[in-house]
Amino acid sequence: MASTTTSRPPDSREAAQRHPSGDNRFKLLDRTITKHHNSGDALIEVLHAAQGIFGYLENDLLIYIARALRLPLSRVYGVATFYHFFSLKPSGKHTFVLCMGTACYVKGAAVIHKEVEHHCQCKFGETTADGNVSLVQARCVGSCGLAPVAVVDGQVAGKLTAASSLDRIKQWQDEEVTR
Ligand code: FES
Repeated sequence: MASTTTSRPPDSREAAQRHPSGDNRFKLLDRTITKHHNSGDALIEVLHAAQGIFGYLENDLLIYIARALRLPLSRVYGVATFYHFFSLKPSGKHTFVLCMGTACYVKGAAVIHKEVEHHCQCKFGETTADGNVSLVQARCVGSCGLAPVAVVDGQVAGKLTAASSLDRIKQWQDEEVTR
């Protein structure tokens, strides 16, 4: 059956600014990779940047980095798993990655940070005691126009407030209780 979508076609300027992956965070990562001339010697720096931008190093990200640096995936995995400061996935069922880059910080990310930590009773970089929510802090995730921004289970959510952030987290907690 043909799909019936009512969403308007993407604005061409908007589309041109978007990374081909549809995730602008890759643009920031590309900048770091280019700065290091796509050199495999910069693997650790690139992994650091990727973790700062995305919060953790998921599979697709490691594959992307391996291709960009022209390194065998096994080498990228080897390095990412060897160092304890790299995290391959958030341990919680849900992930709330809060951007603490300059634009988001200026627009109130620090208040969200404080309120979310208080509500979840855990710090960013940790997972709630029930294993439901991982709080991750990232640097600029490439959507500054929407600041303050969080990546909520992989989806960018912009113009957040402390209240709207807590609503999302409470929704996850409610779902868990009614299960
Ligand atoms: S500073 Fe948060 S998206 Fe750029």
